[in-house]
Amino acid sequence: MCGIVGYIGTQQACPILLKGLRRLEYRGYDSAGVSMISSTGELNVFKSKGKVDDLESFLEDKDVTGTIGIAHTRWATHGVPCRENAHPHFSSTGTLSLIHNGIIENYASIKERLKEKGYTFVSETDTEVLVQLIEYYKIKYNSDLLSAVQRALSQVIGAYAIAVLDKNNPDEIIAARKASPLAIGLGDGEYFLASDATPIVEYTKKLIYVEDNEIAIINRHSGVNIITIQGKEVSHEVSEVNLDLGAIEKGGYEHFMLKEIFEQPECLLNCMRGRINDEGTDIRFSSIIDYGQRFINARRLVIVACGTSWHAGLIGKSLIENFCRIPVEVAYASEFRYSNPVISEEDVVIAISQSGETADTLAAIELARSKGAFVYGIVNSVGSSIARNTHTGSYIHVGPEIGVASTKAFTGQVTVLSMLALCIAKERNTITQEQLQEALQELLRIPDKIREVLKQNDTIASLSRTFTYAHNFIYLGRGYNYPVALEGALKLKEISYIHAEGYPAAEMKHGPIALIDAEMPVVVVATNKALYEKILSNIQEIKARQGRVIAVVVKGDDTISKLVDYVIELPETVEFLYPLLASIPLQLLAYHIAVCKGKNVDQPRNLAKSVTVE
Ligand code: G6P
Repeated sequence: MCGIVGYIGTQQACPILLKGLRRLEYRGYDSAGVSMISSTGELNVFKSKGKVDDLESFLEDKDVTGTIGIAHTRWATHGVPCRENAHPHFSSTGTLSLIHNGIIENYASIKERLKEKGYTFVSETDTEVLVQLIEYYKIKYNSDLLSAVQRALSQVIGAYAIAVLDKNNPDEIIAARKASPLAIGLGDGEYFLASDATPIVEYTKKLIYVEDNEIAIINRHSGVNIITIQGKEVSHEVSEVNLDLGAIEKGGYEHFMLKEIFEQPECLLNCMRGRINDEGTDIRFSSIIDYGQRFINARRLVIVACGTSWHAGLIGKSLIENFCRIPVEVAYASEFRYSNPVISEEDVVIAISQSGETADTLAAIELARSKGAFVYGIVNSVGSSIARNTHTGSYIHVGPEIGVASTKAFTGQVTVLSMLALCIAKERNTITQEQLQEALQELLRIPDKIREVLKQNDTIASLSRTFTYAHNFIYLGRGYNYPVALEGALKLKEISYIHAEGYPAAEMKHGPIALIDAEMPVVVVATNKALYEKILSNIQEIKARQGRVIAVVVKGDDTISKLVDYVIELPETVEFLYPLLASIPLQLLAYHIAVCKGKNVDQPRNLAKSVTVE
């Protein structure tokens, strides 16, 4: 969702800001803008609908000078994507410009009050209301920008990360945060700010993460000073960010998504490194060593997440219930937060998030903590809000994921959940040493087996061409593979805009079977040994109605292979690890279909990578 960038220092701000916006493109956006205080002291705002490239063309004949500036990519919430609604927004007198990520919930009532005082508005956004409110206080109390920002933010209900420029003070950016991410990079005589570390890392590794209800005063001469909205000074740790620039670039691949699909063997090795020993005889999670009793004594576990992370959570439920014999519930964070959930101190809540910034998941964590639950985070983005707001947790260590459609984060989450389940099972004695060893050794073989699956990329690419005509798809799976079917369908919807539904295979006869005809492609994940005959019957039912079946089977399966239209083979593994293999061809299928249809695979329409608003 919206991305913010800022710069103050000795270099020209505009090229740094534009590069920063490009780094944030992956978050999803529909318009972009910049604001600089020029070398002649003008406060300029330039913005355009569309991509950063469109903005750059628009800037060609403009005065883009200045060593202080802010910039924004907007993902529309209030008002359509257009130049007027894009950020930065000017205040009425044109002396302030502001960028904002989040939602000001009480903007309508503030707007009415300001209108009564004679203010007029040029956009439909909640953000313009905030910059006008700041200016209103600045004029009313004849104060500096900081005091006006403090007064305005104490009136505001909602979520924000903001940055403000004042024409009359070309040496300072004021930024603030509540429930939307904001990081400040400390360079040598220069400072950067951004929604995440990606626009900053090529200049400095030193970062400060601004916390909720804090305001940062970033001054060209005196550096960074952080206070609360009420004005209390706060000190902050400076974090060293270990982010390799190569990890946020395409590295020869046509799309980030394809790169990230192919990175999975390496990512999963990184995820297991230091947790499973080389021989595959033991597993250690520092967080479980420290908080083992919370898991051993847990009455139940509740997993909260959104989107793809929620699908990983469904696999986590099967893993934990099977290995640890603890009941597990999986909730959409957005539903959980408003459901008055029954949560107590004996519950462990596991929050799963790639970005670590999803607003609903953060709110669910806050609620669970307020009820006394112990909250464990499974997060990719190091130092993110969810990582910092949980009691403890595990990073999945798959590196930055830039493609909006999540791939390596999903398999990373499933890998961590598999290890977590085995680790808790070991602590609770619900697994024998022999079973544990067998499971760990097979887990260690998964990266190589994924490499085997990836070799079928060309085959999957050519079969994808056959299906670009399709308007609908059905994905079926059972047990551990049911969430794989849901995730496969989600991938296809997200990037190719083909309607797709995931179903537990046996549920087909309760509805989806009515949709099957010669036009309907059905992807069946058919790796389950125990339920093999039943899946076979499902496939026969589809074929009897002329449906076209793409089956994902275990290598050497001649029975299903003879029955279906297309076959994708997986190396053999144990039941609980098939999701890690079976999700790979489904990612590739969605990717190639979207490419054949000419879609923007990395930045699909309307979607955001990091959903920082409700
Ligand atoms: C968005 C992304 C999805 C992601 C979901 C949850 O919808 O496009 O890929 O699964 O948010 O995000 P999280 O960062 O919390 O995993």
